[in-house]
Amino acid sequence: MTDLNTLESDVLAQVAGATDLQALDAVRVAAVGKTGSISGLLKTLGAMSPEERKTQGAAINALRDKVTEAIAQKKAALEAAELDARLASETLDLSLPAPHRRKGSVHPTMQTMDEMVAIFAEMGFAVAEGPDIEDDFHNFTALNFPEKHPAREMHDTFFFNTKESGERMLLRTHTSPVQVRTMVSQKPPIRIIAPGRTYRVDNDATHTPVFHQVEGLVIDKGIHMGHLKWTLETFLARFFETDAVTTQFRPHHFPFTEPSAEMDVQCDRSGGEIKIGQGTSWLEILGCGMVHPNVLRACGIDPDEYQGFAFGLGVDRLGMLKYGMPDLRDMWSSDVRWLAHYGFSAFAAPNPASGLS
Ligand code: PHE
Repeated sequence: MTDLNTLESDVLAQVAGATDLQALDAVRVAAVGKTGSISGLLKTLGAMSPEERKTQGAAINALRDKVTEAIAQKKAALEAAELDARLASETLDLSLPAPHRRKGSVHPTMQTMDEMVAIFAEMGFAVAEGPDIEDDFHNFTALNFPEKHPAREMHDTFFFNTKESGERMLLRTHTSPVQVRTMVSQKPPIRIIAPGRTYRVDNDATHTPVFHQVEGLVIDKGIHMGHLKWTLETFLARFFETDAVTTQFRPHHFPFTEPSAEMDVQCDRSGGEIKIGQGTSWLEILGCGMVHPNVLRACGIDPDEYQGFAFGLGVDRLGMLKYGMPDLRDMWSSDVRWLAHYGFSAFAAPNPASGLS
């Protein structure tokens, strides 16, 4: 019978001497594999006397465990060394210039958003922000959506699972909750815009589950619908860089404004492109109205003293109209050819001095 001590030192020496994972695996197969030397010893137990089997069995099993453990340790050490070697060899020189054809571009949505912020900043608006994950109070209740009212469903909301407290968070369906956050934290006069991402369960050529809005809010004494109309028309003329934009104001309903309206821009969608200032189609680009007294009250503002207007502009839609993109879904397709065609230079950030686009 093979001397177990000799076998042990032989196998352990082989384990220690293995220089890579492949060699180590060969040692493992030769020792504890199906037909390996130690496995072979276990098979001889059957022919032994019960006494002998007891002592030899325990000794062989202990040897097998010891060898298995040694192999596992060696394997971890070899893997760590392999990783160290890879990390040392795969360095990246971030100071090298990017190859010409792989240069990135600014996405049309971000370009449009930057242009909008530049125009409103010029008109005296400050930028306000709020979270994408909202609660029911800011997204609905404070905005005068009655409890259990179908208007809440109208927005096709993405809800999170209900918490133990019974509260259910959601992805904001519009940027209007930023109106609430601004009014409870600032005193009038208020003049802000709130650009950001918004989310609804919706998907077709003019709707995507994630889209962008720029909210506007003005609160002061003596504010009326004329101020709203002037602000929007002035903005659109500036944004489209022409006075030839035809718009229509349509009466609408929003729980948080009274009266409420939507605005559409005339466009032509007959070809593969979308063109403004001509054609027979209308694309809805914003919702607006005079801030409802209940909303002012919910935010601690006295509606007898202050009035205001609000609007929510669809950023992606304005981008489609200005830059002639017929399908909103392309914005999210990550197609480098589309991005190369519609993208903007990162070195031409829009500002009123050097031009918008
Ligand atoms: N929040 C509305 C929407 O997303 C738009 C809106 C904003 C309407 C502000 C009126 C006032 O549809």
